Amino acid sequence: MPYVIGCVSQKGGPGKSTLARALGAAFALNEWSVLLADLDTKQGTATAWQQRRLRAGVSPEVPVQMFGNVAGAVRKAGDADILIVDGAPHASAETVAIAKAAHLLLIPTGLSLDDLEPAVTLANTLADQHSIPLERLAFVLCKTGSSTAELVEARTYLGKTRFATLDGEIPQKPAFSRAMDAGLSVIETPYKAPREQALQVIQAAIARFETLIASA
Ligand SMILES: Nc1ncnc2c1ncn2[C@@H]1O[C@H](COP(=O)(O)OP(=O)(O)OP(=O)(O)O)[C@@H](O)[C@H]1O
Ligand SMILES: [Mg+2]
Repeated sequence: MPYVIGCVSQKGGPGKSTLARALGAAFALNEWSVLLADLDTKQGTATAWQQRRLRAGVSPEVPVQMFGNVAGAVRKAGDADILIVDGAPHASAETVAIAKAAHLLLIPTGLSLDDLEPAVTLANTLADQHSIPLERLAFVLCKTGSSTAELVEARTYLGKTRFATLDGEIPQKPAFSRAMDAGLSVIETPYKAPREQALQVIQAAIARFETLIASA
């Protein structure tokens, strides 16, 4: 059975596919056999990204496959080392299934209360109504702006919850959106400063994943 990292959210657009692609690329770069499961069957953005990546000849390859549910993805992942699950835009019963299958569940969020509140609601629901262990859940600050005060306030807000927030943040930058347009992940943008910033977040996710599987 593969290890599973899920990327889910209560609302659409916070950065699930961005994180899933970067994790897929990071594990592939570390020579793990990885499968990225695209559960966003309506938009298929991870699948489309993989097509762009293949057309551009980007190495390493990140295998992506679309699935209607996480159970199908786990069955198909068979001998892969790790399955990265890119959830559909909004939380649903399938989000709970992803959470139950995942060794680490990432919830990307922006900095406004409109983004933070649904992210915390989702984490609380998964923990309290579906018994997902608290340590498996982590918030990730994505698409952040240039205000340090807003960043500090968001971290303070999330710090009052029972859940971890990963170190670092992925700011909203054309360096990232254009990289993804070209089939690259945010950790592969040619621009050094943004690349290192994205890498910090992805390394924090991988460090947390490694801690969780070591204690399992
Ligand atoms: N840090 C960033 N800088 C610039 N653009 C970004 C960044 N992160 C994400 N985007 C862009 O924002 C949009 C939404 O990001 P993404 O697709 O990762 O979110 P999502 O949570 O998967 O969305 P959905 O709920 O629709 O599946 C995409 O167009 C993506 O290219
Ligand atoms: Mg998506």
